[in-house]
Amino acid sequence: DRAACALECIHAYSLVHDDLPCMDDDDLRRGRPTVHRAFDEATAVLAGDALQALAFEILAGPETHPDGRVRAELVVALAKASGARGMCGGQMIDLSGVGEDLGAVARMQRLKTGALISAAFELPLVMAHAGGAERHALLAFAHDLGLAYQIVDDLLDVEGDTGVVGKATGKDAARGKVNFVTLLGVDDARARLDVIADQARTHLDPLGERAVGLRACLDFVLDRRS
Ligand code: IPE
Ligand code: MG
Ligand code: MG
Ligand code: MG
Repeated sequence: DRAACALECIHAYSLVHDDLPCMDDDDLRRGRPTVHRAFDEATAVLAGDALQALAFEILAGPETHPDGRVRAELVVALAKASGARGMCGGQMIDLSGVGEDLGAVARMQRLKTGALISAAFELPLVMAHAGGAERHALLAFAHDLGLAYQIVDDLLDVEGDTGVVGKATGKDAARGKVNFVTLLGVDDARARLDVIADQARTHLDPLGERAVGLRACLDFVLDRRS
């Protein structure tokens, strides 16, 4: 639970900063005014900074795991997933633009969204000292889950209804963002999503019944409307 809370802090911070005028300049998040709209920009920057610090305070606390070496490994894993070679790096690429290149889009999405979703698997794998084929299968699933999540997000930006999605829609194309949906169109992006979802399910096959929760998680990602 503490590892999950730490990850949630990073996720929340990333969205507070993502909505700032210097990034996506959004007014609505989860159906409510974004932090800089409800308060002001300085508050949003500092709230994000404080959430990031809180994530590592939680993770490094002795209640997280009795073994200090495990806690250090958790901190390193979350730092990598959040930093320049993870979420922040992906956000930078998103803002700089990737050009009309599907490979570059996939790389951007792996960093901006995939890295934190993978961390949700990486952290418990570290705590469980899990290795071998099951670790490999779970991380491969996480990779596809992250890609699927972001394609659905990009589809919702085109097809979603602000009242349901809880954030402004139609903004990616308006801002000149490049993603699978703006590059391929809705139908081809959806076809690609189906392929990725099938691949994700295949990764779970060796885990049998134990992966029932993860299959539900994938279905949730695919079916979500908000
Ligand atoms: C945000 O991606 C990703 C991170 C905050 C790391 P988006 O900019 O596509 O997310 P929304 O559409 O604003 O939720
Ligand atoms: Mg963004
Ligand atoms: Mg955004
Ligand atoms: Mg989006």
